[in-house]
Amino acid sequence: MVPNHTLRHLIDQWLQMGTQFDPVLCTIDCLASLKKNLESDEATLENKCQTLQKIQALTEESQSGNSCLLQLGFLPLLLELLFGKTESKLSQECVKFAEQALSWVLRLMSPGEYEYLNMLNEESKLESFQVLFDQGTGKIKRSVCQVIEAISSSMETRELCAKLGKNRKLLKGLILLVHPTYEASDSGIKAISALCCLESNRQNLVQEGVISRLLTYIFDSERHERNLAPKALSTIELLLELESAKAALINNPNGIKALIKMVFRFSEHEGSESAVQSLTIICTDSLQARDEAISAGVLTQLLLLLQSQCSARTKTKARMLLKLLRSRWD
Ligand SMILES: *[C@@H]1O[C@H](CO)[C@@H](O)[C@H](O)[C@H]1NC(C)=O
Repeated sequence: MVPNHTLRHLIDQWLQMGTQFDPVLCTIDCLASLKKNLESDEATLENKCQTLQKIQALTEESQSGNSCLLQLGFLPLLLELLFGKTESKLSQECVKFAEQALSWVLRLMSPGEYEYLNMLNEESKLESFQVLFDQGTGKIKRSVCQVIEAISSSMETRELCAKLGKNRKLLKGLILLVHPTYEASDSGIKAISALCCLESNRQNLVQEGVISRLLTYIFDSERHERNLAPKALSTIELLLELESAKAALINNPNGIKALIKMVFRFSEHEGSESAVQSLTIICTDSLQARDEAISAGVLTQLLLLLQSQCSARTKTKARMLLKLLRSRWD
């Protein structure tokens, strides 16, 4: 073995540097003092925004940045700053701060941390959450939607998820986001679909008119280059177990047409299965729906689907739907 003196020299140099300057320790110290600034009652919101920017700069390069912030308790602190004080009107500074703080919350939030969100079970905090969602910018609305998704995805926050589903104002707001021309509609669809994990939430969403908004989105999604139509459709499929959802679909002038549009698309098969399944559910109960589907061209779409590369399962379902419809054209 030949000792490598160059390497040894480099190691010595590095060790000496280490005693004078430890980048990791320094960052933790800096972050802890920046945290004090965020906690301080004297600091203005503008000041706190600057603090968040400094944290961004400090943690950008380091891999351990997020875990340092979590260890120092930044997540509950940010949530407290965002939702702790209820103001009925969002000021300009509030908006700026909320945009940044929310994006930090989303960055730090991982499944192990979801229970912090249970702070929203407190009435006053939920109210602030609502104010942020109602009056916030598109960016804030999108972030709030992502928080709702997080809440819906964890067992630890189930109770809160049910609480959100009872909040009619919030549901209305979410449903209004779903429109093919709105930037935030995709986040809205994801949040709505996530809330559907609870049966009680499904009922309320349908009552607030979610079906017709989702149908409009699907119907116009191509024209506006929106690509969450398959997700919107699988949400409808799930909701169709409710009689009220079936009625909303049948009574919607574009309802069956929107489903048929999704049966076969040249570019992709995502959504085909949900479309066929939803049509089957609707047509099983209603002769009128079968007639309407046939005159809107469902047969051509199904035949195209059967000749395509879609999954065997989808083809089986398509054949069953054809059989069901046959009774009307024989
Ligand atoms: C010795 O270490 C230096 C630094 O890592 C390296 O560049 C060099 O190639 C090494 N020399 C030998 C003979 O392995």
